[in-house]
Amino acid sequence: MALLPILRFPDPRLRKVAEPVARIDDAIRRLARDMAETMYEAPGIGLAATQVDVHKRLIVIDASETRDELLTLVNPEIVEQSGQQRGEEGCLSVPGIYDKVERAQRVVVRYLDLDGKQQTVEAEGILSVCLQHEIDHLQGRVFVEHLSQLKQQRIKSKLSKQARITA
Ligand code: NI
Repeated sequence: MALLPILRFPDPRLRKVAEPVARIDDAIRRLARDMAETMYEAPGIGLAATQVDVHKRLIVIDASETRDELLTLVNPEIVEQSGQQRGEEGCLSVPGIYDKVERAQRVVVRYLDLDGKQQTVEAEGILSVCLQHEIDHLQGRVFVEHLSQLKQQRIKSKLSKQARITA
């Protein structure tokens, strides 16, 4: 088990489009475990492989209050979506920034589990938002890119100031 460093917006590596996982082997299972550990430690409710600079279609999510409902999704794909919701989002790659994003209310996501079995999850509310947010990461998209250009500029300058203070 290991904690993985998380890329920070606007790192250009966050824009890479992830490749499908061709084979679920021990390396993928180890990566999934490390990503889950990193997510719980942060703490966050979701993490995409893109955020740890691995450009494969793999995400981990735990949107439960009890923090014991880990979902690991390989090659996730939204196969149905409906309705609309607008809620506040944050991201481990954009620390300290929260803003409202429009998302589908309900999604159905098809994916492979770590045994290579096809599964589907149907979600509404926060789990639905989280699935859409993490699948966006695999497409090279960070949630702030749903916001206006002006807001994105403000966020970039705020984060670069933080980075200077930290460094
Ligand atoms: Ni995120």
